[in-house]
Amino acid sequence: MGEIDPAFIQEPEHRPKLRSIEVNEIPVIDLSVYNTGDTKQIASEIGNACKKWGFFQVINHGVPLELRCRVEKVAKAFFDLPIEEKRKVKRDELNFTGYHDEEHTKNVRDWKEVFDMLIQDPTLLPASPEPDDEEITTYTNRWPEYPPEFRETCQEYAREVEKLAFKLLELISLSLGSPANRLGDYFKHQTGMLRLNYYPPCPSPELALGVGRHRDGGALTVLAQDDVGGLQIKEQSSGEWIPVKPIPNAYIINIADSLQVWSNDLYVSAEHRVVVNSERERFSIPFFFFPSHYVTVKPLEELVNEQNPAKYEEYNWGKYYVNRTGSNYKKLEAENIQIHHFKRSD
Ligand code: OGA
Ligand code: NI
Repeated sequence: MGEIDPAFIQEPEHRPKLRSIEVNEIPVIDLSVYNTGDTKQIASEIGNACKKWGFFQVINHGVPLELRCRVEKVAKAFFDLPIEEKRKVKRDELNFTGYHDEEHTKNVRDWKEVFDMLIQDPTLLPASPEPDDEEITTYTNRWPEYPPEFRETCQEYAREVEKLAFKLLELISLSLGSPANRLGDYFKHQTGMLRLNYYPPCPSPELALGVGRHRDGGALTVLAQDDVGGLQIKEQSSGEWIPVKPIPNAYIINIADSLQVWSNDLYVSAEHRVVVNSERERFSIPFFFFPSHYVTVKPLEELVNEQNPAKYEEYNWGKYYVNRTGSNYKKLEAENIQIHHFKRSD
């Protein structure tokens, strides 16, 4: 067993059982018919996947493979830089974009390095999580000097994945029985991020995690993973951790917290985590699709009635986000804010 800093060590019940990836249980959905207008069938497949897993993979999604390869290349070139170079664009108390190698999930340090960039530049967010504080802060991206094509490549890639995210939002709206444009307005000033994840080989993969168990806080995540594997989803019925098999050029889509609330618990924001290994480094690129900061998140009116009342109190997206972001920096005493804190008890 290798030696690692105790900050990375998970409590025994959260340590991973390292298993190989042989099954593919997560649905794979072909989006090629989207353009022919026959969206009914896809919407129904998506609806089923969102209910059972909160996860699915998509193929024929329209994001050019050549662009994905280019962004993977600049990500690798960036993380290969000496640590002093990477720290020149380090996240700090005033600006959460850029490089970071001390992220904590559920108060245990993650075995990874990240680079975060806002999709909208600038992005407006509440200055603090305090409910009465109305001040808004403007955030802008920071960019590394190397590799020189980093900025342009990442921006071009983010624009293409954003198109896919809007497409998925339409299909999800349809799958809920609402018009295709039902959710789009919530994203007029979207506050999302593109993240580059780098998971170095870990000498003790049985003790640490690349990302500890968590649910994504936003609306939807569109994730590119390489061929190494490591992402696991907690199956609702059995509580088992199910690995997501890498499929070349597919995207992994997951429902995040706002969509669970909008759907009034019809769809699940599933718990997931990343297992690391001692041999191979791994890269992944999640696109986190978040609403505008001023959006009030609450179950959609058309999905609630007397027999099926709203299961959540409403909350402001910006405040929720800022509250959660603050807790990624360091080990805290308490759990950060989660949608179950807004769950109605009746
Ligand atoms: C995340 C995440 C999965 C992965 O960054 O929120 O769940 O495969 N990443 O890197
Ligand atoms: Ni996640």
